Amino acid sequence: MLNPQDTMNRSTWSLAESHDWLRSLEGFTDAGEVAAYGRLAPRVRGLPILELGVGAGRAVPLLRNLSTDYVGIDYLAPMVESTRQRYPDADIRLGDARDLSAFAADRFGLVVFSFMGIDAVDREGRARILSEAHRVLRPGGHFWFSTLNLSGPHARERPWNYALPGPAQNRFAIETLRWLWRYPRRYLAYARNRRRRVRGEGWEVAPFSAHDFALLVHYTTLGRQVLDLLAAGFEPAPLLLENAHGETVHPTDDLGQVEAFNVIARKPEAQPSSSARGAAAAT
Ligand SMILES: C[S@@+](CC[C@H](N)C(=O)[O-])C[C@H]1O[C@@H](n2cnc3c(N)ncnc32)[C@H](O)[C@@H]1O
Repeated sequence: MLNPQDTMNRSTWSLAESHDWLRSLEGFTDAGEVAAYGRLAPRVRGLPILELGVGAGRAVPLLRNLSTDYVGIDYLAPMVESTRQRYPDADIRLGDARDLSAFAADRFGLVVFSFMGIDAVDREGRARILSEAHRVLRPGGHFWFSTLNLSGPHARERPWNYALPGPAQNRFAIETLRWLWRYPRRYLAYARNRRRRVRGEGWEVAPFSAHDFALLVHYTTLGRQVLDLLAAGFEPAPLLLENAHGETVHPTDDLGQVEAFNVIARKPEAQPSSSARGAAAAT
């Protein structure tokens, strides 16, 4: 199932530097995540939770505060190991978000893929994740994930304009030297990944500045994301929040300065079967 994008991203996350960084993270990533969590908490408290792409376990305590019925998976064994060491009593398993066959249909009240983890897979893999999340959610359950904005600043970053130190910055000279020192590796990774760029209507798979451009990720417009969720069977009109302030956004807004979105999609409540509807109509 592994394709060149998987191979690239898995090897980048397996680097000691990336793994250590993920291990250093605690709490919420940004205001968008805080806002999404606040909206979801009263709806999902006590319900079974599945976390996809747990990494080194940053979100485990946040999610287990909502429910003790929690399972987390990651497709990298070292991540699973790290999270198990950090939270020995948590149920953490090796698994790929594109294949949730280990879990029964309608099992969870909440499925989570935080910190743009869903963007690591290609277009086809993303469709599989949406449909697998939909399958394992119970009717009325929620899928919460964050995703990079194709119209936003991250999609425009290049090695030559990324995180350039300014003269007003503390330790400007040291930061400039550091930036120059890392430039060749950033440029080489970008040049290699740029050749793997793929584009479609409202989406693109392209290099991402995180980890020195050694990640290849999927960017989406908000409109495309809403359509993809609809195609996977989720209700229309998901809750959409921008990441910097946690404000609600709509696909028709000017989103040029929004880096990423938090998306909360809901699986429709079960429709009564036609025979049940007929019986109800007859009474
Ligand atoms: C950006 S890290 C985020 C980790 C963690 N959720 C956090 O917020 O700190 C993305 C994680 O998703 C995992 N991942 C990416 N694609 C995956 C997939 N298809 N199945 C399972 N895990 C995946 C990676 O191994 C990595 O640990």
